[in-house]
Amino acid sequence: MTQVDVLLGLQWGDEGKGKIVDVLSPQYDLIARFQGGPNAGHTLEFDGKKFVLNTIPSGIFNEKTMNLIGNGVVIDPIILKRELDNLKAAGHDPVGEGKLVLARKAHLILPTHQLLDAANEQKMGAGKIGSTLKGIGPTYMDKTGRNGLRVGDTTLADFKARYDKLVQKHKEILSHYEFEYDLTEKEEKFFEAIEFIKTIPHVDSEHFVNSYLKEGKKVLAEGAQGTLLDVDFGSYPFVTSSNTTTAGACTGLGIAPNKIGQVYGIFKAYCTRVGGGPFPTELFDETGETLRKVGHEFGATTGRARRCGWIDLPALKYAIMLNGVTELIMMKADVLDGFDTIYACTHYEYEGETIDYMPYDIISVQPKPVFKAIKGWKTDLTQINKVDQIPAALNDYIAFLEKELEVPVKFLSVGPDRTQTLQLS
Ligand code: GDP
Ligand code: IMO
Ligand code: MG
Repeated sequence: MTQVDVLLGLQWGDEGKGKIVDVLSPQYDLIARFQGGPNAGHTLEFDGKKFVLNTIPSGIFNEKTMNLIGNGVVIDPIILKRELDNLKAAGHDPVGEGKLVLARKAHLILPTHQLLDAANEQKMGAGKIGSTLKGIGPTYMDKTGRNGLRVGDTTLADFKARYDKLVQKHKEILSHYEFEYDLTEKEEKFFEAIEFIKTIPHVDSEHFVNSYLKEGKKVLAEGAQGTLLDVDFGSYPFVTSSNTTTAGACTGLGIAPNKIGQVYGIFKAYCTRVGGGPFPTELFDETGETLRKVGHEFGATTGRARRCGWIDLPALKYAIMLNGVTELIMMKADVLDGFDTIYACTHYEYEGETIDYMPYDIISVQPKPVFKAIKGWKTDLTQINKVDQIPAALNDYIAFLEKELEVPVKFLSVGPDRTQTLQLS
């Protein structure tokens, strides 16, 4: 019997999960997404090509790996179809090759869920979450409110009647907003996409994943978003609507907690956030602008500029604790190549005290970061491909992080390409 390894983000998303899942996927028989939906944008680069995946797991480019969209994911059939159409146009056909299956219990994002997301954000004005407007929140609300439609429902004779009933409910809610919409075109596309997703095999993810484990096969659960966007433990209410932490892999796939193996926690050598909400180490100056420019910090899903700042160790410690991280993966170290000095936030000054944890309220009382200065390495990391080429100053930075975080850094990423990845231990 094997266990499920988990790879997830320790910050506010966009840590580089897609790249590393792709790098690790040859070691796995199954890659399984367990939460979130097309709010995710996971970027992969290899052979001079670049792909952004929203719903499809990042194991899709590895010949032998099966990919599962788990029950904890919310699926927009229109976006999933578009993703698969685009992949096909680029010469990849995971459905034709039998490399993709969908959980019957995964919930569907309806066009009206997107409208509700947009209407709600519009109404909140300046206080808005800054959602990706993909309908994520309203879909999870219908899931927990026990109104949702699931992938398995698409094959039922009364699917259209169930759809109409839910849409009617949404229209009633929308009538309370000053929000104009036209559903006709979207609905047409939706039903076309529903017919398409019926051609992808539907499985019970709980049995599917557990049968892989029984057969001794290797499974990697791919997280979306990041720990600080978790609906329970993130910077609420500026969070997404799912559990992005390791526990989410259990409920989002149907595996017991004792079936969790290694937990890979992935983080950038600095920190970013897209959308609203607190971000203690955010930089509003030229340095922040440099990080954004050098790191190409613009959203893979929405194109929005990502907010940038220095690495936040109290937040990382919190994320490591919540997830039971066994190995760390540090991304985008190359983005810091040009700095003489970089900074790491080791503590916060908060209500007259110096603390090293994330307090409950970081919205009305803003923690002030206390930084440690670290010598930069001033080396072009994108050109290195061996561990012994890592500059001493970067090794010192890694050793400092390992000491602070009490977890080893297993991989170091020095560029967006699949090959720009170094295994440290
Ligand atoms: P994900 O959502 O966690 O999969 O991350 P995204 O794909 O949204 O954002 C990560 C971005 O950084 C993508 O544009 C990647 O191509 C890029 N990237 C990943 N690793 C590295 C790295 O080590 N260095 C640089 N410069 N870019 C990277
Ligand atoms: P990946 O998987 C970064 C953010 C949004 C917003 C908040 C709520 O690529 O790391 P939602 O649409 O989920 O209701 O938006 O969460 N957000 C992400 N930020 N990366 C993501 O995914 C994100 N998915 C959602 O910007 O602040
Ligand atoms: Mg992303």
